[in-house]
Amino acid sequence: MSAKPARPRAGATPAAGAGRPPEAAVVTDIRAIRERARKHIEDGAITDSYTADRGTVIKLLNEALATEIVCVLRYKRHYFMASGLMADAVKAEFLEHANQEQAHADRIAERIVQLGGEPDLNPDVLSSRAHAEYVEGSDLRDMVKEDLVAERIAIDSYRAIIDYLGDRDTTTKRMMEDILAQEEEHADELADLLDGWTGG
Ligand SMILES: [Fe+2]
Ligand SMILES: [Fe+2]
Repeated sequence: MSAKPARPRAGATPAAGAGRPPEAAVVTDIRAIRERARKHIEDGAITDSYTADRGTVIKLLNEALATEIVCVLRYKRHYFMASGLMADAVKAEFLEHANQEQAHADRIAERIVQLGGEPDLNPDVLSSRAHAEYVEGSDLRDMVKEDLVAERIAIDSYRAIIDYLGDRDTTTKRMMEDILAQEEEHADELADLLDGWTGG
């Protein structure tokens, strides 16, 4: 058992009042942060240290949301219409992708609300705002090809959004990076399907 006091710090001068936090400036900052947090409570998760242009971020996220919804609908259509030799294997892929795109849409919509915006789910304007297109495809192989095209469009546009966000909104950036990684997986799976195509 040691009777020595804990935390002997190099260079520290033991004096009366040692143990009190020396960084008075930090405390002042915390007080200011608390005051600001109280003043703007209607902004929810968004504080003064948020430096991105909120309106632009919400607009970009609404475009990504439209893209995801269009992708859900296209994958669903392909899931129900799939027929041919490869249909069973490909159907499972279509359905899984549809569900994952829906999960992306939900995450994006949630973030839009956190940022003080409104998710635009008006069906009249969804496809005009989406980056990817709704293409029905003439046969199973064509459907897979169109899905791959759409994924590649999403990959490029999400990467552009991530680049724009930079370090100004790291939460949105992280979310978009997660989603981008899954779109890359989707594209990879579809490319593999096309590579090994044997059915009609
Ligand atoms: Fe997605
Ligand atoms: Fe995808």
